[in-house]
Amino acid sequence: MPTERKDSRTAFILANTELIAPPHVPEIRLNLAHEAHDLWHRTEEDLQEIGLQPPYWAFAWAGGQGLARHILDNPQIVAGKRVLDLATGSGLVAIAAARAGAARVSASDIDAYCEAALALNAAANNVEIAFSNADLLALPPASADAWDVVLAGDVFYDAAMARQVSAWFSTIAGPGRTILVGDPGRAYLPRHLLIERAVYQVAVTRALEDSDVKRTVVWEFAGEPAAEAMPAALA
Ligand SMILES: C[S@@+](CC[C@H](N)C(=O)[O-])C[C@H]1O[C@@H](n2cnc3c(N)ncnc32)[C@H](O)[C@@H]1O
Repeated sequence: MPTERKDSRTAFILANTELIAPPHVPEIRLNLAHEAHDLWHRTEEDLQEIGLQPPYWAFAWAGGQGLARHILDNPQIVAGKRVLDLATGSGLVAIAAARAGAARVSASDIDAYCEAALALNAAANNVEIAFSNADLLALPPASADAWDVVLAGDVFYDAAMARQVSAWFSTIAGPGRTILVGDPGRAYLPRHLLIERAVYQVAVTRALEDSDVKRTVVWEFAGEPAAEAMPAALA
């Protein structure tokens, strides 16, 4: 991203967020917003575009908080490994992986503000994370050789995206690669492809989630329908 544009996104983020710790991951601080609706309109004004996605980068989503907690409490999952955080948003999961001792962490997201948000948040937590705004889900998965561990927090909230993520995970799954997702029961979770690894009760913002706490599960992508999740008629 050209420096001038990145500087203007950085200024926008700093003007609209506060450096605070997400409740379930108090050891990490992020530039987070307190409300979404007005900020969403301000991003549209800032970019002079309508129909933008909500400012996901300004919140620590329940799926990301649960997954970040799991990585920090089980650092062996990423220690010494090359990690990708798909759909990084604020960068929370990527930062947790870096703090847990990953050899290298990359993060991807297609949102226009993510690169600047991640840069601010990585710096606030003294870690280095590479960023790509390429839509990895639309690219051939040849580059998957670059990652030992693929992490994704809260990516199953939209039907089309969930289909894309599931298909992409299926193509990159294989021996020697761990794929973990954090999910608070979103509508399009491909439960039949996942194995439960851990459960967390994550405090969330009622304005975003219509709830104060979300039961959040860390799942491992099984690569093929997991026997335990298969309908009895198919097992
Ligand atoms: C609910 S947010 C989760 C953010 C973060 N992982 C967390 O848990 O806090 C979903 C994120 O997916 C990103 N996203 C949507 N489509 C994507 C795609 N094709 N590739 C990468 N990221 C994508 C959005 O921009 C957004 O940042």
